[in-house]
Amino acid sequence: MESGKQLTGTLALAVFSAVLGSLQYGYSLGVINAPQKVIEQHYGRSLGVLPEEPLLLSENGTGTEKQEVHPSVVMYWSLSVSIFSIGGVVSSFLVGFIGDLRGRVKGMLMVNVLAVVAGLLMVMAKMWKPHVMVIAGRCVMGFYCGLSSGLVPMYIGEIAPMAYRGALGTLHQLAIVTGILLSQVLGLEFLLGNDYYWPLLLGLSGAPAVLQSLLLPLCPESPRYLYIKRGMVEEAKKSLRHLKGEYDPSADLEEMRREKEEVEKEAQVSIAILVRSSLYRQQLFVALMMHLSQQLSGINAIFYYSTAIFERAGVTQPVYATIGVGVINTAFTMVSVALVDRAGRRTLTLIGLGGMCICAVAMTVGLVYLSVYSWMSYVSMLAIFLFVCFFEIGPGPIPWFIVAELFSQGPRPAAIALAGCTNWTSNFIIGMTFPYIEALCGSYVFTLFAVLLFGFTVFTYLRVPETKGKTFEEIAAVFKKGRKQTPGTKKTGTETGTGTSTELEQLKSD
Ligand code: GLC
Repeated sequence: MESGKQLTGTLALAVFSAVLGSLQYGYSLGVINAPQKVIEQHYGRSLGVLPEEPLLLSENGTGTEKQEVHPSVVMYWSLSVSIFSIGGVVSSFLVGFIGDLRGRVKGMLMVNVLAVVAGLLMVMAKMWKPHVMVIAGRCVMGFYCGLSSGLVPMYIGEIAPMAYRGALGTLHQLAIVTGILLSQVLGLEFLLGNDYYWPLLLGLSGAPAVLQSLLLPLCPESPRYLYIKRGMVEEAKKSLRHLKGEYDPSADLEEMRREKEEVEKEAQVSIAILVRSSLYRQQLFVALMMHLSQQLSGINAIFYYSTAIFERAGVTQPVYATIGVGVINTAFTMVSVALVDRAGRRTLTLIGLGGMCICAVAMTVGLVYLSVYSWMSYVSMLAIFLFVCFFEIGPGPIPWFIVAELFSQGPRPAAIALAGCTNWTSNFIIGMTFPYIEALCGSYVFTLFAVLLFGFTVFTYLRVPETKGKTFEEIAAVFKKGRKQTPGTKKTGTETGTGTSTELEQLKSD
C-alpha cells in the first residue's frame, strides 16, 4: 500500500476530525473528578438534604472535605460517575454495526447527535433537578464514547499509510490524554470547577462534536470500507487519491482486491461467530489480553484516585500534582507517536508493561515506608510519574489501534467491538472496586497490579507478534502460521490456503 504521497493535507484533516471524538472521551473521563464537592452540594439542595445557600469551599477547590455527605447524595454521585462506563459497555457492542451501516465517516457523524444531547443535558443541569440531568447526560455521553472509542481507531487504521499506521493510531490516545488534561485544568476552582460554572464544565464535553460534525463531511470515506465492504471500486479509488494525493493506486487496489477475496469467504463475521471460531482465536486472545493489560495495569486507579494517593504520600497541593500527572501523560504519548513505527508495537508494550511493574513495586515500597522515612514520599511520587510515562509509551496507545491491525476487514468490526467492550468493562470494574481493594490492602494495594503487570509482560513476550511495517495480509499470515504450528489444532479450509473456510460456513449455518 506504499505509493503516492504519504501524508497529505486531506489525511491530516481526516485524522484530526476523527480524533475530536477521542478528545471528547478523554475530557469525559477526567472532568468528573475536580468538581465533585460543588456538584454534591447542588445534589444535596435539590434532594432537600442540604440548606439552599452554597457552602464555602476550601482554597484548593476540593471543598469542605470533612463535612459529612448525605447517603442519598453519595449514591447519586457514584451513579453520576459510573453510569458513564455503563453507557460505554453497552454501546461498544454496537461499534461494528454502526461502522458497517453507512460507513465509518457517516457512523461518526451520526453518533455526534448523542454527544450534543449529552452536552446540552449537562449545561442545563441547574434548570431542573441537577442529579437527574447530570446522570442522564453522563449516561448518553458514555454511550457516545463507547461508540467513538471504537469507530475512531477503526477509521484511522483503515486510512493510514502502512508506514505511519502506528503514529496515526497513537493520535487517538494522544487526543484522549489531551482531553483528560484539558478537563483537569478547566476543572480548577478559579476556572470552571466552581459553584457557578460547573454545568458549563461538564457540558463542554459535547463541544468537540459540533466541530467534528462540521469537518467530517469534508473527510473521505475509508477506501477499504468502500472497496471491500461495499464493492465500490471507483469510489475507493477516488478516496485513495484524496487521502494520498495524485498517484497510481493500482498496487493499493490490488492489495484490497486480494483482501476482498479473502473476506468473501468470511463475510459478515458477527461477534458470536468471532467468539466461537477457532480461526480467529489467537488474534482475539491477543487483542483482548492487550486491552485487559491496559486496564488491569491500574492506570485508572492512578487517574481516578491520584489526588488521594498524593495526599497519602504527603503532598500538600495534590490537585496540582494530579495536573502534573496529566502533563507527563500527554508528553509521553507524544514520545510514543514518535517511536511506535520505528521501535514497534511489541517492543514498546514490553518495555511499558515491564517498567510499570517495577514502578508498582517502588510505589508500594514508598507508601509502606512513608511512616519511617519521610523522604519516601518522593519515591512514591517519582514512581507514580514513571508509571504513567511507561504506560503511555506502549500499553496506553497500542491496544486501541492494534486490534484493527490484527484482523482483516471481515472480522475487524466485531473484533473492535469485543475489545472495546472488554476495555470498558474492566475500566468499570477497577473504578468500582479500587476503593474497596485499597481499604483491604492499604499501602500494599499496588502489589496486586505489580503481579498482574508481571503476568501481562510475560504474555506479551510469548504471544504478541510485531505488526509494524506489515500489510494486513502479512499480519493474518503470521497467525495462520502460528495455527499450523500449534499441535492438535484443527485444520480448516482457509488454513490450508484452498480458499474455503469450512469452519466459518459451519458456524454461520448453525
Ligand atoms: C487509555 C485508557 C483509559 C485511560 C487513559 C489514560 O486511553 O483506555 O482508560 O484513562 O488511557 O491516559
